[in-house]
Amino acid sequence: MIDFFNALHKRHATKHFNAALTVDEKDIEKIKESVRLSPSSYNLMPCRVIDVQDKEVRHELKTASFNQGQITDASHLFVFCSLNKLSSEYIQRVNHLREEIEGKERDHYKGYVEFLQNMVGKKSQDKLMHWNAKQTYIALGFAMMACASLSIDSCPIEGFDAAKYSQILKLSDKGLTPNVVLAIGYAEDGESLQRSPKVRLDTSDFFLDI
Ligand SMILES: Cc1cc2nc3c(=O)[nH]c(=O)nc-3n(C[C@H](O)[C@H](O)[C@H](O)COP(=O)(O)O)c2cc1C
Repeated sequence: MIDFFNALHKRHATKHFNAALTVDEKDIEKIKESVRLSPSSYNLMPCRVIDVQDKEVRHELKTASFNQGQITDASHLFVFCSLNKLSSEYIQRVNHLREEIEGKERDHYKGYVEFLQNMVGKKSQDKLMHWNAKQTYIALGFAMMACASLSIDSCPIEGFDAAKYSQILKLSDKGLTPNVVLAIGYAEDGESLQRSPKVRLDTSDFFLDI
């Protein structure tokens, strides 16, 4: 495990993976745990990840991703999706789980659940989808940093045809929309030598006074 700040500097969007190298399942479990522990608004957890292992499916997805090599060459491919709906039952289920975990009596959070159901119910479908999608990017960031801390390379990928992904992975049947992909593996030998230094604006460009 490398230290967080070291990992921040070492992480880069890997363009060429060594297709012969596989990430150990124990490390994959840790990366999955980073997704599970990522925060979400009201803890509604609208992120779902498809772990695409089938090689043929990966080839189909590559075609739907402007032929980006990472889609097939990376050891693992996670497709970060968001829920299309946050049903009243789902909101209740999450809060029943919370009651159980916190050792509270059933329906302790009834009022809060009603507040959430009402708030979600008032959102247009577009707003809900946008809100849910934003949460998946938090999980993506956590997964990228989990990879980096384990000295595993990754590449976030938004360059794909979402409609084709939905069709190939049958995402509408699952009530999901694909937002972003994370290719996970080990870079090809020598890739690090071809990398350019990080290009970032100054901290003073990111942080502004009022
Ligand atoms: C949301 C998102 C989508 C991205 N999509 C792609 C992509 O489709 N293909 C690709 O090669 N890189 C993609 N990148 C990588 C960025 O180009 C890269 O992160 C950026 O240039 C900064 O470089 P670094 O990550 O190596 O520091 C994406 C990055 C993010 C955060």
